[in-house]
Parts: sequence; C-alpha cells; structure tokens
Amino acid sequence: MKELVKLKAVANISTRILSNLLLEKIQNCVKNGEKIAMLTCYDATFAKLMELAGVDILLVGDSLGMVLQGAENTLNVSMHHMTYHTKMVKNGAPNTLILADMPIGSYEQDNEAAYKNALWLVKSGAHMVKFEGGGKRVETARYLVKHGIPVCAHLGFTPQAVNQIGGYKVQGKTNASAEQILNDAQAMRDAGVSFVLLEMVPAALAKQVTQIVPTIGIGAGVDCNGQVLVLQDLLGIYTGAASKNPEDFKNPRFVKNFLKDTNSVQAAVAAYVNAVKNKTFPAIEHSY
Ligand code: KIV
Repeated sequence: MKELVKLKAVANISTRILSNLLLEKIQNCVKNGEKIAMLTCYDATFAKLMELAGVDILLVGDSLGMVLQGAENTLNVSMHHMTYHTKMVKNGAPNTLILADMPIGSYEQDNEAAYKNALWLVKSGAHMVKFEGGGKRVETARYLVKHGIPVCAHLGFTPQAVNQIGGYKVQGKTNASAEQILNDAQAMRDAGVSFVLLEMVPAALAKQVTQIVPTIGIGAGVDCNGQVLVLQDLLGIYTGAASKNPEDFKNPRFVKNFLKDTNSVQAAVAAYVNAVKNKTFPAIEHSY
C-alpha cells in the first residue's frame, strides 16, 4: 500500500514536470517568434494524428457541442462532456499540451466552484483550462492561477454569450469595445494567464493585444503568436449540422480547408501546422 502511495506521488510529480515542460515549450515559441499551431481535438485517434503532425496545443473545445453533438451553439455542453472528451484526447496524445474549455455554468458562480471544475478537467488530462470573458472573470483567472492551474482567457467574440451578443459578430470594432478588450487583456495578463485566445476581432486590435499578452487568434489577423482552427473546419466537413437552412450555411472568413489540396487527413493537419509556422496562414483574407 505504502509503495502504491509512493508510486502515485512519483506519478503526480512527473505529470507536473511534463506539464511544466509543455508549457515552457509554448513560452519559448513566443520568445523566439515561432508561431504556435493549435487545433481543436475531441478524441484519441485525431489526438494521436495531431501529435505526430506536430500540433503544439490540442484544444478540447466546447465547440464539440456543435461539431460533434450537432447543436446550434455551445450552450448545452456540460462538465461531463468536457471531461469525457479530455480523457480521450489525453489517451491519444500524452506528450502534447492539452487545453480544455470550461463549459457555460462551470465557472461563473464563484471561484471555488470554478476551481473544483478546473481541477476535474486537470484530473481528466488537461494542462490548462480556458474560459470566456474579461471583467469579473479576471478574479477567477487570478484564483485558478494562484492555486496552480494554468489559464487561457478567451476574449473578443465569446461563443457562450452568442445570445447576448446577438449572433456571430466581430467584436472590438468601436473605440469603446476595443478599449474594453485591451483593458481585459491587460487585467488578465496581470492575473497571470498564460495567454489569451482572441476570436473575431479586427487585425489591428489583435496586434495591440499581442503587445500586451501572448495571443492565439481565430479570425484575429496575422500578428497573433499562434493560430487555432476547429478540426472540422480545417477538413472542410462542417456544414452547420443544426442550421435551419443548411443550404444557406456559409463558413466564416477565417476558415480554410486544408484537406482540399492534400490526399489525407494526416497531410492536411501537417499542411496546417506548416502554414502556421511559416506564416502563410492566416493571411490578410482570413482577417477582419
Ligand atoms: O471551443 C472552441 O473550439 C473554441 C474555438 C474558438 C477554437 O474555443
């Protein structure tokens, strides 16, 4: 029994060491000006394939509500869904940084509840958690970081607030909203977040945010430190499963189909990683 406890302690320490090394690798990318390639991932098969293709970060995104479950948005995703998929991704890619989304309702109530849920994701295999919004969420970020959980803040367009925002709209277009995003980014940096995911904001604003804190962009121009895409968008296979009029479904500007010019999923993922690393994706045409 004592041996088992010892083994578990050693396993915990080595998990922490690996986690620190993976985080350090990402921080070194930022330091050395190497772009970070991130992709969403929800299962072990794709996780293995992405690890082999050199994807830097696997995001277990709550976009799974749309691309796996066929819902119209991310609002029905639960902690059970997130931990289930995080475990699968961990099984497939034990040596890649895993970022897991905190679903709506799992972090807003109070810091203790946020910590409990973040820890559940960590125990399921996540090295870092992501949640949406600035403002009040800054204290949540500070609390989790203080308790040893690395955090990514999601600013700009925040899909869990799609109903408040009134649709999928570019954020930070007015002076006031741009200022708000800059202030939130600064406050998040001071709270200790590792980086900020910026979704659908003007390229010029994303450039300013990137001078404050490391950024991963999606629809955020060419100057972010890294890029993320939803796997199904990269493969050109998401057609808005739950849209009322699928024939009217139109991909957002930042989406690029990498499978079109390759002959396998593995090659498409590798082409994405290459394009991000050599700065050919995203291009101006993918920006706002
Ligand atoms: O859940 C998700 O897939 C995201 C996207 C912005 C990449 O957060």
